Amino acid sequence: MAVIEVVQGDITLQETDVIVTAANESLMGGGGVDGAVHRAAGRRLADAGAAIGPCEPGDAMATPAFDLDPPVQYVIHTVGPVWEGGDHAEAEVLASCYRRCLEIADELGARSIAFPAIATGVYGFPAEKASQIAVATLMSSSTRVEQIKLVAYDQRAYDLLVAALAL
Ligand code: APR
Repeated sequence: MAVIEVVQGDITLQETDVIVTAANESLMGGGGVDGAVHRAAGRRLADAGAAIGPCEPGDAMATPAFDLDPPVQYVIHTVGPVWEGGDHAEAEVLASCYRRCLEIADELGARSIAFPAIATGVYGFPAEKASQIAVATLMSSSTRVEQIKLVAYDQRAYDLLVAALAL
């Protein structure tokens, strides 16, 4: 069973084998956390993303981590659902993002992974519900990953993830 930990900070500074970015379907970079990860990993990340994309919402794809410092070896790009009110399978797509990232982390032999709060920024997914989906999905997924970090970028996101973990 993986240990799930909530931290507040920048995902590009996490010392895990894999970091997850909240991408768009092109995998060529964007704003928000995707912008930060692409800036930290360097220009090769967008080229690698373009070579394997597009990525469907709910799915995930891995590339090398390029200029990100060790121990980070891979970036897993996942595409969250755009929030459209909750009646368009957004919850199922978001859960799929977390599940697929763990599946790929297992394929890569990763033992630690850091997730941002997928879809809760530009894509508008309500953060409290997204936190509960993230924790419930990760806790119910079997994986060889031993350490899962949920990285909150601000205090509110941190509090919501801690509350979700305590449910
Ligand atoms: N480290 C950790 N978390 C971060 C960072 C960072 N450096 N920067 C932003 N975040 C947080 C945001 O505060 C938000 O809680 O990541 C969460 C996800 O927000 P977005 O990055 O906007 O991702 P998302 O809502 O999934 O929208 C994806 O935005 O940037 C574009 O190309 C991307 O089209 C895609 C869309």
